[in-house]
Amino acid sequence: MATNDLLLRAALGQRTERTPVWLMRQAGRILKEYRAVRERAGDFRTLVTTPEMAAEVTLQPVDLLGVDAAIIFSDILVVPDAMGLPYVMDEGKGPRFPRTVRSMAELATLRTPDVADDLSYVAEAIRLTKDGLGGRVPLIGFAGAPWTIFCYMTEGQGSKTFSMARRSLFADPAFAHALMDRITTTTIAYLRLQVEAGADLVQVFDSWAGVMDRATYREFAIPCLRRICEAITEVPVTVFAKDAWFALADIAALPCATIGLDWTQEPQWVRSITGPEKTLQGNLDPCVLYADRAVIARETARMLDAFGPQRHIANLGHGVHPDTPVDHVRRFIDSVKDHQHRPA
Ligand code: CP3
Repeated sequence: MATNDLLLRAALGQRTERTPVWLMRQAGRILKEYRAVRERAGDFRTLVTTPEMAAEVTLQPVDLLGVDAAIIFSDILVVPDAMGLPYVMDEGKGPRFPRTVRSMAELATLRTPDVADDLSYVAEAIRLTKDGLGGRVPLIGFAGAPWTIFCYMTEGQGSKTFSMARRSLFADPAFAHALMDRITTTTIAYLRLQVEAGADLVQVFDSWAGVMDRATYREFAIPCLRRICEAITEVPVTVFAKDAWFALADIAALPCATIGLDWTQEPQWVRSITGPEKTLQGNLDPCVLYADRAVIARETARMLDAFGPQRHIANLGHGVHPDTPVDHVRRFIDSVKDHQHRPA
């Protein structure tokens, strides 16, 4: 079996014959094969904590869609879970934490997990997935960024504004720094565990970066991201800070290989801020995949031309919507693979 290392070469800034492609949330509800395993599992937590099933759904998009990377099936919420805040996944509504952490006193009740033990199911899923891949494509590990995890731990559920999380940054900054610090320490241990188990690249998802302002992001989030990037030296690190156009210069100054972009961040404009040394990942609007085949091909080509042929990993600007038709997802992937870059 030929090995496809396009993703790793692109992340490391080495030449690629074509742009690699994968999709955020590719292991999920777009595939009927995923929904079948999910049904067999019964609930989300069982799927996440059963390595055989997690590995099975991780491999599905590689076999069924032809993506250039697998991403381990798990969730960012396994970290707060291991720290002593169990999540509940309400069907159709998203995650919820019955218990929250909003003060130093509550922070003191958190545990410092032994990730090799508490999150051994993720390491085992990675090992099984690597066996199943047999080197066909790289495997991406991931974690939530400390700020996004902080949002869920303080707020207790999803929110449009995360005002409870933001409130604590200003009302009790000592607590906010302390909780961010605790999350960062566990996240580093957790990402190291994934790398030891076989993850070839890791992505840090800061899904709620966009609710902060630049100065606050600089004070609270960037130092934690720096600690993570500096701790993970064996594999490339991708930082995806959604809606955080204001933080791009600060993220570009981190020792990460790749920067993930959402669809609002225009490639050439981003390049002018980050300089030539970073690989960029993204950033088609996931809603383009609801359009017909011609529009998907046209918009994908436009995106690829805007990024150029090197130092780019094609992806969506956020997770693929669960009700996207699978043949439209395939059209996106094939459009990337077939694209002919115009000679410079
Ligand atoms: O294919 C992949 O990308 C790997 C799997 C993956 C999941 N969650 C599985 C999942 C990844 C990378 C995540 C990350 C994640 N989880 C993020 C960061 C990325 C982002 O989307 O911004 C966040 C914020 C979460 C928290 C979370 N988990 C939410 C808000 C939800 C509910 C929304 C939804 O899509 O239903 C989840 C549940 C979840 N995580 C599902 C999947 C496939 C759907 C649940 C199901 O299958 O029943």
